[in-house]
Amino acid sequence: MNIHDEIIVILDFGSQTTQLIARRIREQKVYCEILPFSTDLEVILAKKPKGIVLSGGPASVYDSDAPLCGNALFEMDIPILGICYGAQLMVQQMGGSVENADKREFGKAELTIQLTDGLFAGLETGEYKHQVWMSHGDRVKEMPEGFVTSATSDNSIYAAFRHDTKPFSAVQFHPEVAHTLIGTDVLRNFIFGICGCSPNWTMHSFIESNVEMIRNKVGSAKVICALSGGVDSSVTAAIVHRAIGDQLTCIYVNNGLMRTGESESILRFFKEKSKLKVIDVNAEEFFLGELEGIVDPEVKRRRIGLGFIKIFEEQAAKLGEVDYLAQGTLYPDVIESVSFRGDVPIKSHHNVGGLPEVMKLDLIEPLRELFKDEVRELGLELGLPEEAIYRQPFPGPGLGIRIMGEVTAERLRVLRQADVIVLEEMKKSGLYRQVWQSFAVLLPIQTVGVMGDYRTYENVIAIRAVDSKDAMTADWSRLPYDILQIISGRIINEVRGVNRVVYDISSKPPSTIEWE
Ligand code: XMP
Repeated sequence: MNIHDEIIVILDFGSQTTQLIARRIREQKVYCEILPFSTDLEVILAKKPKGIVLSGGPASVYDSDAPLCGNALFEMDIPILGICYGAQLMVQQMGGSVENADKREFGKAELTIQLTDGLFAGLETGEYKHQVWMSHGDRVKEMPEGFVTSATSDNSIYAAFRHDTKPFSAVQFHPEVAHTLIGTDVLRNFIFGICGCSPNWTMHSFIESNVEMIRNKVGSAKVICALSGGVDSSVTAAIVHRAIGDQLTCIYVNNGLMRTGESESILRFFKEKSKLKVIDVNAEEFFLGELEGIVDPEVKRRRIGLGFIKIFEEQAAKLGEVDYLAQGTLYPDVIESVSFRGDVPIKSHHNVGGLPEVMKLDLIEPLRELFKDEVRELGLELGLPEEAIYRQPFPGPGLGIRIMGEVTAERLRVLRQADVIVLEEMKKSGLYRQVWQSFAVLLPIQTVGVMGDYRTYENVIAIRAVDSKDAMTADWSRLPYDILQIISGRIINEVRGVNRVVYDISSKPPSTIEWE
């Protein structure tokens, strides 16, 4: 069912910035979806798009195996915006030609606007130079019939162009990146000026339409949801609860591997404030038993994952007939990738995603159209506490994969106390929300120290803090020395059994964010 009145379709030709185009359009409160370039025209048309964006991509349009879209797309009267590769594709498919440029353009470039209509309406023309961001090795050799140049750069007389009568425009630069200072104006001119969209897609309207859709789908059936304390499962539970109230039961499995205080606050909110039905299972003993003597990271992950499914199933069975599982799948997990990124699993991530196959339940995935920042916005609109909404990501296997070596109650105590100091100091300094993740890791070694007049031989804690946009890549955070000093001093003084603190200065890749 298409519940969106207005939609822009982005055809993905494999650019690294395709998702960014989607986010920039959605920031303007217009809904858009990313589809693979090879999507059938009927599928595209069934969505009744108000406009189509052809993304950039790494190929050359003249390659024999270049990704193309059907010519029929250009026979409709739907507005089209070609970006970089998408611009060159438009040229080639409309009868012009593209060639390898002897001078490539990467990075900042200066744009001079010739035609202040269409994409460039309201922008300064004449001698004025606009900063844009380019990334291309090919260039337009010959413009197809009916097209006119709308902007030039030092390196190209076809930096932007449009059709004389049809609603087709193209830019060689990337309007979606921040370095293109007029990027937002260009996208706004396309979606509002050319496509005629209205800025109606808000989280308020999202809630209204999704609540309605969930109600229609579920009817009087029962739904369960695995609540982890993280943002995605919390927001999922909140919107499903808004739709069907007591027909939803959430199950929270306390595996004893949570950070101090993290899950408690959101559970309290759900139980007391929003009166959600939550089954709160304390399974600490069970998980400690499962992890006894285990040091291999993959075995740990498997045991924690399987243990979770076992307990969840036991609890669900007590509820009698259940028809649906609500799950916090996000849009980036749904978008079909068209590039060849060779995603070989580096670690077996345990997510509640393992549940549906086992439980054979139909899924309700209210967040599957949303990016992470939109999920946060939705959570705030649903009235969840800010503290829960801006929580850093936390892995399913929890502290189990932040303790190198065997997980025991005593080693959990050491790590938890150290970790809470990291949390407190990061929050106090205002850095908690600026970094992607910040946490403590307990190492499997002991080192010599001196405390007072005594020699000590105790544990080492590593601090890990990283900056990242999506966890695919990450750089270690340049935390101020003063903060590191406070954290180190407090851990060594306050946590019994630790006499050394080190800071992890490795990036991902080649390291990963978690240590196991
Ligand atoms: P890595 O260590 O692979 O982590 O660089 C990338 C991101 O994923 C989180 N992570 C997990 N999340 N289940 C999860 O739900 C897992 O098993 C898991 N392992 C890692 C990690 O915290 C980081 O944000």
